[in-house]
Amino acid sequence: MCGIVGYVGPKHPSDVVVDGLTALEYRGYDSAGLAVLVGKRIELLRTVGRVQGLRELVEKSDLSGSQSAIGHTRWATHGVPSVTNAHPHANTDQTIFVVHNGIIENYQEIKSRLQAKGYQFASETDTEVVPQLIDYYVKEGLALEPAFKAALKDLRGAYALLVISSVEPDTLLAAKLSSPLVLGIGDGEMIIASDPLALVEHTKKVVYLEDGQVIRVTKDTYHIENLAEEKPVRAKVELLTDIDGTTGKGNFPHFMLKEIYEAPNTLKLATAGRVHAHEGLVKLGGLENVAEQLRHIDRLVIVACGTSSYAGMVGEYFMEELAGLPTEVQLASEFVYRDEPLSRSTAVLAISQSGETADTISALKKVENYGCLRLGVVNAVGSTIARMTDAGVYCHAGPEQAVASTKAFIAQVTVLLLIALYLNNGKTEQYKPLLEELEALPDKAAAVLSQAKHIEAMARKYAMYRDFLFIGRRYAFPCALEGALKLKECSYIHAEGYAAGEMKHGPLAMIDPNFPTFALACDSPLLEKTLSNIQEIRARKGPVVAIATEGNKHIRKLADDVIYVPDTLEQLQPVLAAIVEQLFAYYVAVAKGLDMDRPRNLAKSVTVE
Ligand code: G6P
Repeated sequence: MCGIVGYVGPKHPSDVVVDGLTALEYRGYDSAGLAVLVGKRIELLRTVGRVQGLRELVEKSDLSGSQSAIGHTRWATHGVPSVTNAHPHANTDQTIFVVHNGIIENYQEIKSRLQAKGYQFASETDTEVVPQLIDYYVKEGLALEPAFKAALKDLRGAYALLVISSVEPDTLLAAKLSSPLVLGIGDGEMIIASDPLALVEHTKKVVYLEDGQVIRVTKDTYHIENLAEEKPVRAKVELLTDIDGTTGKGNFPHFMLKEIYEAPNTLKLATAGRVHAHEGLVKLGGLENVAEQLRHIDRLVIVACGTSSYAGMVGEYFMEELAGLPTEVQLASEFVYRDEPLSRSTAVLAISQSGETADTISALKKVENYGCLRLGVVNAVGSTIARMTDAGVYCHAGPEQAVASTKAFIAQVTVLLLIALYLNNGKTEQYKPLLEELEALPDKAAAVLSQAKHIEAMARKYAMYRDFLFIGRRYAFPCALEGALKLKECSYIHAEGYAAGEMKHGPLAMIDPNFPTFALACDSPLLEKTLSNIQEIRARKGPVVAIATEGNKHIRKLADDVIYVPDTLEQLQPVLAAIVEQLFAYYVAVAKGLDMDRPRNLAKSVTVE
């Protein structure tokens, strides 16, 4: 969703900010803007559409001699995507400019209060109340920073805010509450962003701001305070060792395809140093400090959103089957508002690629005072969720930029399997075979990728259908849900995932020659039952595409089309099937001429509830 970058220092501030916003483009947005301080005047540049449009505006403007700038990519919440609604927003005098991630929940109330005092508003956004409110306090006699703090105390909701003002030209002010913000400390320069990816090219020295903190930054100094107590905070400076600033597509036409092709490497990275098949060992350093506590856990609640929740569902089967641990997956947005009893022997595990999903963060916040162990399976190193949890295991999939999650799903499933095996500690017969198979899996993933042409042909054949059903049983059930989500996100085709056993309880009514089904039918003890479901669909003339295990010739007689995957253990089939589903969704989007990297209406990192 929205991205924030601010810079003060000797480089061209507008270039640094626009480059930073470019690095955040993958998050999804619909407009972009920049406020640049040039001498005593602030230039405002805003555009609907891509950051490239903003770059062109910068190139056409005379911004020489500028000292600092703040920029923003907006994903519309309050008001349509338009130049007027794009950030930065300013006070009427155009002396205070603000960019904002999050939502100001009481903005109507503040707006009415200010309107009653004669303030006029240009946009439909919640954000515009912030510069106007700061302006109000300045006019009441406060200096800029105290006015900013006074305004913050009036706000309810979530925010990462950056302020630039011609009143104090060499200063940036910022504040954080429930939306991420990181300060990059350079040599004679400072950069603040909502994501370290936007600043890693300039410095690796960072401070992650905490909720309730306010920061004042000049090119050489920074000062952090706790808003509630107005006391200085000693910041922990960290080094960004694991963040890769490379954001290019390489030789691939799209990020999504590049990321799908990273599957074999993703599997290697997720297991590197953790799986020791010869010794029969799983080592998870991130769980060492809670190993004792884990022994007393009798229930696991997994909280996540979107693709991460489907990875969590695969994990649910792992935990039950391999770790004997009663587990359930809850959508984070539902978990937050449920009144279920949670005991101290329940652990809550958050799964998140970005580590910044607002609902998942809220789910963790909800249990803050329950005494539950809070665990994380996170991809983005140093992200909010990674820092909020007591312990966890990183996915190490590297930056994922296409909106539709691909390699992160594969890494999440792999890491969840490792956690289940770690908890099992060698007790099950499947322990060693699973460890060995994990080592063999990258080559099998590569074998699936080598069928891309075949899958592309299949995708072209089915691209014009309006509806699609995905079915599977046991491990293939969450995979069916994920396959349907991928297709929806990338191609806007209505797709539903169902447990194959549920067909007769409703979905079968929809089946006709125009309603194809994607059947996940790899070898498993339940294969015959899934084949019966396929028969029932065929009997109603529904077209069927099946994913099956290499060597299953019988399925050719039942399905219209078959995509074969290498033989693997049932627990690892979701990884191979997911690659097929991802390629299928990708090529359907290509056939329909859609931008699958940035699907309409969606964002990569959903930082509002
Ligand atoms: C968004 C993304 C999805 C992702 C979901 C959860 O909807 O578009 O791809 O699965 O958020 O994100 P997270 O970063 O928490 O895994």
